[in-house]
Amino acid sequence: MSRIAADVMTAQVIQKPDCVLGLATGSSPIGAYKQLVKRCEEGRLDFSEVRTVNLDEYKGLAGDNVQSYRYFMNTNLFDHVNIDKTCTNVPNGLAKDTKAECRRYDELIQNLGGIDLQLLGIGRNGHIGFNEPEDAFEKGTHVVALTESTIEANSRLFADPQEVPRFALTMGIKPIMQAHRVLLIANGENKADAIHKALFGPVTPQVPASILQLHPDLVVVADKAALAACDQELDLAGRGSVKI
Ligand code: F6R
Repeated sequence: MSRIAADVMTAQVIQKPDCVLGLATGSSPIGAYKQLVKRCEEGRLDFSEVRTVNLDEYKGLAGDNVQSYRYFMNTNLFDHVNIDKTCTNVPNGLAKDTKAECRRYDELIQNLGGIDLQLLGIGRNGHIGFNEPEDAFEKGTHVVALTESTIEANSRLFADPQEVPRFALTMGIKPIMQAHRVLLIANGENKADAIHKALFGPVTPQVPASILQLHPDLVVVADKAALAACDQELDLAGRGSVKI
């Protein structure tokens, strides 16, 4: 999964060296980031002109907090590739005026000309970024109260589950849907239900990833465990990979 995801991202950077990459944190992209670092070290990939926007950040965490998504991005990717850090963007979790910060982030994405390739993981409840199940899709960057399922899933990375922030700033659905291409990655059986609902269920804000069915250029890279509930739809038997 990681190698193929890295291939899609590499192709994007080669095709358009000053592209805007929308990036994600969490466990799913770590392997792909490792591949990108390796390719960069080997001189096969050049990040010098790439600009990035990350999906989300915990509210209340500074960028040097080891649990922050800025810290994650620095340590998993930015510190190890030849990217200009001033061209990397993560919402500011410490912003006092969060509404102004959300506006600033939307304007920033707009001023960059939108996103060329948006990388997404998926939550067990079908969230993308921190767009949690809701009654309506939220278009712009906004503050969200994380659901219990997300807090519980993310608590594995905290020494004390009480420390998991309860709020986050997240990019909305609009820039994700306006990205030229979306790359959704998922692995493991705990994603099987979310992947099935996202790709084959009704399009509903109760499963935020389901809106990706309406994206004209969605690439899904998933392992068999994550696709296990899609057996019927994909006829996976005996096939190593499948193009949806
Ligand atoms: C992270 C993000 C989240 C994760 C999702 C899956 O920036 O936006 O939507 O992609 O929670 O997380 P993992 O990959 O840890 O299972």
